[in-house]
Amino acid sequence: MSTSASASASTKSIIIPRVKAVDAKESTDGNPVLIKGWVRTIRKQKTLAFVEVNDGSNMNGIQCVLSFDDIDEETKKELARVTTGCSVVVEGPLVKSQGGKQTVEVAATKLRVVGECPGDAYPLAKKRHSLEYLRTLAHLRPRTNTIAAVARVRSQLAGSIHAFFQKTGFVYVQTPLITASDCEGAGELFRVTTLDIDNASSLPLVKTEDGKDTTDIVDSSQDFFGKPAYLTVSGQLGGETYASAMGDIYTFGPTFRAENSQTTRHLAEFHMVEPEMAFADLDSAMENAEQMLKFVVKHVLDNCQEDLTFFGKFYDKGLIARLEKLVAQPFVRISYRDAIKYLQEEIAKDPSKWQFPEVEFGTDLSTEHERWLAETKFDSAVFVYNYPKSIKAFYMRDNDEDGGETVNAMDLLVPGVGELVGGSQREERLDTLLDKMKEQDLDPDDYWWYLDLRRFGSVPHSGYGLGFERLVTYVCGMENIREAIAFPRYPGHAEF
Ligand code: 4AD
Repeated sequence: MSTSASASASTKSIIIPRVKAVDAKESTDGNPVLIKGWVRTIRKQKTLAFVEVNDGSNMNGIQCVLSFDDIDEETKKELARVTTGCSVVVEGPLVKSQGGKQTVEVAATKLRVVGECPGDAYPLAKKRHSLEYLRTLAHLRPRTNTIAAVARVRSQLAGSIHAFFQKTGFVYVQTPLITASDCEGAGELFRVTTLDIDNASSLPLVKTEDGKDTTDIVDSSQDFFGKPAYLTVSGQLGGETYASAMGDIYTFGPTFRAENSQTTRHLAEFHMVEPEMAFADLDSAMENAEQMLKFVVKHVLDNCQEDLTFFGKFYDKGLIARLEKLVAQPFVRISYRDAIKYLQEEIAKDPSKWQFPEVEFGTDLSTEHERWLAETKFDSAVFVYNYPKSIKAFYMRDNDEDGGETVNAMDLLVPGVGELVGGSQREERLDTLLDKMKEQDLDPDDYWWYLDLRRFGSVPHSGYGLGFERLVTYVCGMENIREAIAFPRYPGHAEF
């Protein structure tokens, strides 16, 4: 039962407790409670009205039954204003439901409309809308079953990620969003500028494509107070500094990638969970990722049954079985070389079936390859480790046992999504790191503080990044990552 309480509209001295739909239990004392939410449906019969109120705490909200003999005149008038989408406060005791759909309902004695909702203008009809249509209504879509259920599961996942790291002694560190470094070196950066709106006339005029003068485009002198700065692509480098002092840390925050991709797996703004562990090798990072994922998926299986059952019914029939399997079975571990071998053998059977049939050592695996490995070859979560140096970031540790061709890096692939986690052991040797930076044309002066970590008490360390929206997509059985975040950012979409 919620601790918040409100006075009844008419008897101000009596405090009537508010109850959320998810907590509603049959009353033992017959006292009234308040239900506050948005009307999903209203049905009227000769002597009764049924109002389904959803407050976001569960899938179906709670049914409020109003008997015309038991309600006051004001409530009768208010009932005439009730439409789908309006907000209401309903008062009455919680009783055993007569209907089969729910166990408890409100025997309502009072109802007040808080905010009207003109039915003809309300864009959410009772029927099921397509997820594409709902994306155009990002401000209203949390009122639908699907998006509200995703939001509840997402919230539980975030809470359990923190719970996992807190209980295993990791320190939560917030790394900056504005930074000068491109951690992944992939050049997918959003640049930060200081645009002085009040003095826009002082900015240089630039011609737009259709020949008009504008100050909207700024030159580099307007960078972050005179220095180039970007939105972070990863909190890893900052995380390494704290791991190099505190042992085990994690970050969990927004990251940004200016990739012009319209896929079902990519966003321009997404959240990453990034643990970093000192005195740890690649195996430790894989072990930690496996433990963490099992912990959070089990948490959702234990705490979000109603929402998972809904996803299983409407979106992905095998969802719950797959999540249970993820928790129960050890993850598969294969080297990148073996992954290439398996793919080559399979592609050779019928290359025409593949969008990307060319696969050899050095190929950056595509989602098609990753999903085949996780879904068809192993039907399991799969770690692929020891990737070619040529396709990975400068900070990854050279693999001493592989003639310098590979680095101690891993990706975790899961059915339905492909890559969920990317991680590595970091290069902790100063000289080797400097060589690697030279090879990738990076200026050591830009990373002086990062190099200091290798000068002053360097230590083998490892970490990984989990794409949080990919995890939400996976756990909710969604097809598209755009359902996994409240306001998805992708090319052309930053309106809300
Ligand atoms: O493999 P990535 O690029 O790794 C890093 O950024 C490392 N610095 C992390 C670390 O070691 N601390 O990204 C990690 C994960 C990917 O596996 C994927 O799940 C997710 O981040 N990701 C994206 N998710 C949504 N949209 C995008 N554009 C993403 N790019 C990466």
